[in-house]
Amino acid sequence: MAELLIKNVRAVDENCDMVCDVLIENGVIAQVSEAIDTAADRVIDGSGKVLMPSLFDMHVHFRDPGFTHKEDIITGCMACAAGGVTGAACMPNTKPAIDNTETVKYIIDKAKDTGVEVYPVGCITKGMSGGELADFEELKNAGVRLISDDGRPVENAELMRQALELTKENGLLAVSHCEDLNIINGGIIHKGKISEQLGVKGMDRASEDSVTAREITLAMSCDARVHICHVSTEGCINMIRDAKKAGVKVTCETAPHYFTYTDEKLLKRDADYRMNPPLREERDRLAVLQGVLDGTVDCIVTDHAPHAAEEKADFLKAPNGVVGLETSLAVTLTELYHTGKISLNRIVTLMSAEPRRLLGLPVTEIKIGSSADLVLVDTEAEWTVDPEKLHSKSKNTVFKGEKLKGRPVMTVSKGRIIFELAE
Ligand code: DOR
Ligand code: ZN
Repeated sequence: MAELLIKNVRAVDENCDMVCDVLIENGVIAQVSEAIDTAADRVIDGSGKVLMPSLFDMHVHFRDPGFTHKEDIITGCMACAAGGVTGAACMPNTKPAIDNTETVKYIIDKAKDTGVEVYPVGCITKGMSGGELADFEELKNAGVRLISDDGRPVENAELMRQALELTKENGLLAVSHCEDLNIINGGIIHKGKISEQLGVKGMDRASEDSVTAREITLAMSCDARVHICHVSTEGCINMIRDAKKAGVKVTCETAPHYFTYTDEKLLKRDADYRMNPPLREERDRLAVLQGVLDGTVDCIVTDHAPHAAEEKADFLKAPNGVVGLETSLAVTLTELYHTGKISLNRIVTLMSAEPRRLLGLPVTEIKIGSSADLVLVDTEAEWTVDPEKLHSKSKNTVFKGEKLKGRPVMTVSKGRIIFELAE
């Protein structure tokens, strides 16, 4: 018997937007049509709700191995499921770092039964030390598709150039955390009026802009692909837009906090609003938003970066990072869909299809034969973010107390329900 029948639902993928019934059998979509009468283990009334391909987040930090008091693979995957995410690429700043087969295998194996497909991102340099390139061929053979030293920049431009040459040969994609540590020089929030007012050291836009310019130049010179992480500045958006027009193989991502908030949030002196790159000024927020609207930004990620409450307690000394898996779809719906800026089709592209294409994975569609990796969304549900209700081990969200409109109510992975909103 079929496992799941969803009736009268608004089914949306990149290309379609229609009300229909969707039947799921043996982990795949078996039928999509106006009225399906087949029996199923579970029949759901989807009226008033949206069914879309589940999300893929290509930039998360699961802290496992090494920092499991912040998060581990299991809780990270639970946060994914609650956020409508069934696939994630986890960054290598773990301990040990993801620069060897054993660690790649450990992560894939631990995630195996969660219903969330976890793709470990391999290091660019061994131990993320910046010194010597990791063995890309070994990493690729272990199952790696992306490589990055995220959390840190690759400071040596020649080393980065060599990395791009090698990724091109190996069919990998380099994902670059663009930051100039000499410009940062101990800065903890965006450098501007607010950092001055608070009397704290700032992080100048030039840090992110200059290394983004470098990566574009290197990609151009090797004719290789490069993906720019968590874009937060007006300058980066403009450079990436121009580079794309000129035919450079550059892609990029941003996170919901960058098109929603500015550094005004830092006036609270609350380290939960500190991340790297930092919340910037209104003109940056507007540029990032424009980049999402005009296609300069290829995908929305969370940069889910859990840190324990004790670690976030001191505004000045706290580590950078915010959790985001359980709010990303809701914030995107609230900020971009309910304001009439983008369609649900485009949200599918930004949060599911495009990241999957970047990793070389098949794209989920609402059609017969597609893997049943789906999220049922109540786009009209209004709710308030309560950090204590997050499935993640860490509660460092910038959206705490925020009223959002829209949320996942059920997440399905290969036909199996892996999350259902209780309420
Ligand atoms: O805010 C951030 N947190 N930015 C990074 O690049 C790293 C991340 C982390 O690992 O906590
Ligand atoms: Zn990151």
